[in-house]
Amino acid sequence: MGQPIVTLITGADKGIGFQTARELGQLEQVIVIGARNQRKGLSAADALQNMGIEASFVQLDVTSQAQITQAAVTINDRYGYLSVLINNAGVAMDNHQAASDMPTAIMRKDFDVNFFGVVDVIQAMLPLLKKADSARIINVSSNMGSLSLAAAPESQFYGVNSLGYQASKAAVNFATISFSKELIDTSITVNSVNPGWTATEFGGRASDAPTPAGMQTVTEGAAQIVKVASDPTFTANGSFTENAGTIQW
Ligand SMILES: NC(=O)c1ccc[n+]([C@@H]2O[C@H](COP(=O)([O-])OP(=O)(O)OC[C@H]3O[C@@H](n4cnc5c(N)ncnc54)[C@H](OP(=O)(O)O)[C@@H]3O)[C@@H](O)[C@H]2O)c1
Repeated sequence: MGQPIVTLITGADKGIGFQTARELGQLEQVIVIGARNQRKGLSAADALQNMGIEASFVQLDVTSQAQITQAAVTINDRYGYLSVLINNAGVAMDNHQAASDMPTAIMRKDFDVNFFGVVDVIQAMLPLLKKADSARIINVSSNMGSLSLAAAPESQFYGVNSLGYQASKAAVNFATISFSKELIDTSITVNSVNPGWTATEFGGRASDAPTPAGMQTVTEGAAQIVKVASDPTFTANGSFTENAGTIQW
């Protein structure tokens, strides 16, 4: 039997991150729940343990370099390596204002979590990922970060105005391209995934409301992330995919 797969998921206390944790745990991966809120993170790890999944918690606000550094130390002490890093934590601080009306202070908050948080976490976890037999980095991006779709008049995203969120997700796609090229001669792959519009608080569904038409369930939203994190036949490096296949950058 090979090395157990140890998987860190950021923003895993709820939503797509928690669903991904549950499904990868059910596939025998050892789950590390990253969450900025200790109570919610511990409760998520408990819920997984109650399902028979090997799970633990690290406090991880991806905008805190101190917490990122400490999380890497904790994972090293607990497991000695990391096999899968899923950069799932994300925010959309802007509210569909026109670009000319959007304060850059708001856009910076999008970038702090969605871009700089991802880069800081990758940089801190790379020494642990290099200690695994093979490793996968998955950046949870968005179709709203696709430059091609945003610029195509026939696309449903042509009329969308969320400069902070969209630019931060386009930037994280660039991080995927950059790291995938840098790591091409290693056993680490780096890929972006678009979950698609999904029934989470983030997706705009109140937790007590039914799922609106056209919106995916969290199982559907997590499906491609789970595939990229676990399917031995998924060997791409530097890709951007969704449930339907490849998505344009
Ligand atoms: N839902 C959609 O329709 C959709 C579509 C495309 C892409 N996505 C992407 O999918 C990912 C997951 O979204 P979701 O729908 O599952 O959203 P969600 O239910 O709101 O979950 C977001 C997670 O990110 C965490 N988070 C926010 N800021 C953080 C920080 N500074 N440090 C650490 N964690 C932080 C949240 O923690 P708290 O619980 O503490 O707030 C929460 O765990 C995001 O990257 C999002 O951009 C979602």
